[in-house]
Amino acid sequence: MMKDQYYLDNAATTWPKPETVYTTMDQFFRQYGVNPGRAGHEMAVEAERMITETRRLLAGFFNHTGDPHRVVFTQNATDSLNTALFGLINPGDHVITSRLEHNSVTRPTNHMARDLNVDVTQIQRDGEGYLDPEDIKKAIKSNTKVIVINHASNVLGSVQDIDAIGKIAREAGVTFVLDSCQTAGVLDLDMERSCVDVMTFTGHKGLFGPMGIGGLVVGDNIDIRPARVGGTGVDSITPYQPDGYPYRLEAGTVSVPGIAGLNAAQKWFAALGKEHLTDSKTFSHRELCVAALSHIEQKEVSHINKLANAFNAMDNVSVYGPKDNHPRVATLSVNIDGLPADQVGTMLDADHYVCVRAGLHCAPWVHEDEGTVEQKGTVRFSPGYFADDDDLTQAIGGILDIVEG
Ligand SMILES: Cc1ncc(COP(=O)(O)O)c(C=O)c1O
Repeated sequence: MMKDQYYLDNAATTWPKPETVYTTMDQFFRQYGVNPGRAGHEMAVEAERMITETRRLLAGFFNHTGDPHRVVFTQNATDSLNTALFGLINPGDHVITSRLEHNSVTRPTNHMARDLNVDVTQIQRDGEGYLDPEDIKKAIKSNTKVIVINHASNVLGSVQDIDAIGKIAREAGVTFVLDSCQTAGVLDLDMERSCVDVMTFTGHKGLFGPMGIGGLVVGDNIDIRPARVGGTGVDSITPYQPDGYPYRLEAGTVSVPGIAGLNAAQKWFAALGKEHLTDSKTFSHRELCVAALSHIEQKEVSHINKLANAFNAMDNVSVYGPKDNHPRVATLSVNIDGLPADQVGTMLDADHYVCVRAGLHCAPWVHEDEGTVEQKGTVRFSPGYFADDDDLTQAIGGILDIVEG
């Protein structure tokens, strides 16, 4: 039976979400959708309790072993990255980033270079989309303040060696900020192991939350200057923003329904992990999530390998990014010779009901380096955990049909 749509755009946002995310958000919002931490009544206390629990769950998920109050909620990854970068970097500082970044890193650093006398180095990558950690090491100067990179490219799917990069940053005393948008919820992220000082995340991609919620996990030895100040519901008599976390970086009312969605998704990861662990011992939230992630990664990589093998075998189709079994997530960019990417995207949607994203994917330098600007970017396939063989078959058939004209 045909589906209404074949959704392969999970790098933009995951869809569908686990059922429990929808039901929990609805129930929680109806029952406790009030301002948390501002009042002493039972509903406000319950909203606050859920938020604190979510901070703890996410601290475990990212292996932040320090204070869980340092899990701070924002609107999305763009908000988190702006908060981290503008709150850490000062005029005269040097920042290292790469040509693989999303505009949520490229634009803040470009603005700092233009307006705040910040020195920015963009590290080149190789033909498959990998950074050489040695290039990052060589770029460090006496005034380098921050290294900020994405864990996986949202165009090519290449995954960087963050353990090596984190070690280099730690040894040099440079703050390592990670953009986890394309890997959180797919790969095991461990702030301790990878020496990540500030983990930035968005809720609506692999973490299976809704839009409008994101966050950052701030390592215990790092302090970020607040960019926004205002009401926190605590210390109201103090004329300035409280220094302590999370309030230092959380001014104004947070998205209670969004956090309830993230909370439900965290528990969904844990339940999935439990299904894949045979031992009867009691596991921590993190251990359960790591087991779930290994299962999710396996499934997603198997999806993307099927697509890559099929597209690689087609004449007139260019496949970009990682080759063979090099580290990758389930994001794959292709083009059909002679056709602009947006036209292929429209044909896939209109004629084959396949949802993909075509364009520059907010990562312009990737296309400059691939030579895909003129073709208006690439057609990006990103099957998620809930994709099935029908989605893949439909996508492959759609591309073949367009190629054969
Ligand atoms: C690598 C990367 N960084 C940052 C972002 C920005 O995420 P958000 O739109 O949730 O702020 C995205 C979203 O596509 C992304 O893929």
